[in-house]
Amino acid sequence: MTHDPTTILHDRLMAAMRAALGDALPASAEPMLAPSRSPKFGDYQANCAMALGKQLGKPPREVAQSILDRLDVADIAEPPTIAGPGFINITLRTDALASAVAALDRPGADGDLGIEAGKPTSTVVVDLCGVNLAKQMHVGHLRATVIGDALARLHERLGYNVIRQNHFGDWGLPIAMVTGAVLSKAKTGQLELSRLTLDDLEREYRAAQKACDVGKTEMMLIRKFSLGPKIEAEWAPASEDGESASARARATLVALQSGEQETFRVWQRISEVTLEACFANCKRLQANVTAEATAGESTYRDELGTVVADLEQRGVAIESDGALIVKLDEFGINEPCLIRKRDGGFLYATTDIAGIRRRVQDLGASRAVYAVDARQSLHFRQVFAAARKAGYARTPSGADAALVHAAFGMVLGEDNRPFKTRSGENVKLSDLLDEAVSRAEAAVAEKNPQLSAAERRDVAEAVGIGAIKYADLSSDRIKDYVFNFDRMLAFEGATGPYLQYAHVRVSSILRKAQEEFGVDTQTISGAHFAIGSPEEKALALELLKYAPVVRASAEACEPHRLCGYLYDLASAFARFFDACPVLRAPDESTRDARLRLTALTGRVLGDGLHCLGIAAPHRM
Ligand code: ARG
Repeated sequence: MTHDPTTILHDRLMAAMRAALGDALPASAEPMLAPSRSPKFGDYQANCAMALGKQLGKPPREVAQSILDRLDVADIAEPPTIAGPGFINITLRTDALASAVAALDRPGADGDLGIEAGKPTSTVVVDLCGVNLAKQMHVGHLRATVIGDALARLHERLGYNVIRQNHFGDWGLPIAMVTGAVLSKAKTGQLELSRLTLDDLEREYRAAQKACDVGKTEMMLIRKFSLGPKIEAEWAPASEDGESASARARATLVALQSGEQETFRVWQRISEVTLEACFANCKRLQANVTAEATAGESTYRDELGTVVADLEQRGVAIESDGALIVKLDEFGINEPCLIRKRDGGFLYATTDIAGIRRRVQDLGASRAVYAVDARQSLHFRQVFAAARKAGYARTPSGADAALVHAAFGMVLGEDNRPFKTRSGENVKLSDLLDEAVSRAEAAVAEKNPQLSAAERRDVAEAVGIGAIKYADLSSDRIKDYVFNFDRMLAFEGATGPYLQYAHVRVSSILRKAQEEFGVDTQTISGAHFAIGSPEEKALALELLKYAPVVRASAEACEPHRLCGYLYDLASAFARFFDACPVLRAPDESTRDARLRLTALTGRVLGDGLHCLGIAAPHRM
């Protein structure tokens, strides 16, 4: 049996609506129960009477009254009232509220903190991180990593079997290009493979790209504007260099594809260097992205031919201009999905279609979530539709898996343009993390000079990284946001440090209770909740929202909902703490009741931060 007042009230209201309106009740009708915006309207309000009145052509207040006449909530609420145009206002009985809060605190039938995390019943795959071979992680990967990991954690918290997939971009022509370049330098001793760094690789990547591009634009312009054979002849040698570099890249790709040993070993080494740096960043970000969670594009290389042949054979894909495409008009998508180029090469989309097949049919996902840049929206609409058309999104039991593109916006600089360094380069993620931590260290040193140097470093790491993560996760993911160190590191307002500090405050109150009064956790968890003051009540109501918020955040793939909630909770806690003395409470039972509310708040804050992958230190 649930103790969650929202669920109980929802069900009772539903029953009353049915009793009041019988067959006239529209099938889609909902009580529209929401927390009240102001305590003077009670704790909750049900807004259904307005909508129903409109649909049924009856005065809303009359509808509200007939629902109210059949509403039985005497066991948990004061008699409900009708206000304004037909709001039904409900105030919980304090004893009912206390026992609802107590149930949160009692792992059992209702689950811990109100979240039933039973045996995993289904599998959710989360696509995250998505770094590319021979490239540094930059701010774009911050979002893919942090949002993806938070979504994975939220689903894990609800008991799903979660499989993370880092769709590492490690295959294709550009990859062959850099592999070829590194191979030839290794042969001539200009590069030592065992000492290869990611900086070397980035340099090689750029140089190789430039080599392939030489003369390309010029030739295009010369031909476009018909500048004549003389100029064309002048540029031909440069253009030939470019051509031959491109040809070399293609030859390397063939060598890679056929598993030619030397080339393959170099490629493996490059991959190792890239991933080592990636995993180090992820670890620092407290994002669970490891080798096991990494399935690069290269892991699909042997599946692509099979998938494409299957699509062609069943007529899902058709030939067009020598290329192979999947038409998607029936999904309302005008641009077909290209899966094989005229030269026989496969594409990014081909791999993602194979990815859906693997995720749904082999890994058993009933839901696959992709934390990827919003600029890839069309790509995912196409790939999802093509996979559905092919039947690849159908689970072995015949159900349709949910495919969700959890798209995110860009990280902007103060000038509202894509975040770049002063010289216009992409910002290296590791540099960004370093700077956040060193700024946090200064702030922490100022706030708490008593911390030892070692402790200060640990706290700074937690605060700096937490600040970046909260700032990223708390903005509506589809929107762009402006990256600002000062704002995200502030100890006031909706920031990571503010939430961590609230958590620290709880720990310190509990520590003092133990030191001063010998009140241990056992005594606290045995105390009776007595919810008297408006601030205690507001805090209790906030605590009760935790489980529904976690569920909604996971369902909508929107970590910002949980972020906003935790800020509200921390604020409710601050108001409670200002208004209600805890350690200096008038009597022991009040003190212990308040300690229990405090401890429960700490648990919810800690649990919520954990779901976001943000550290919750006990000292700051
Ligand atoms: N490597 C890709 C990029 O940098 C991101 C991969 C996203 N995941 C996917 N399944 N396509 O754009």
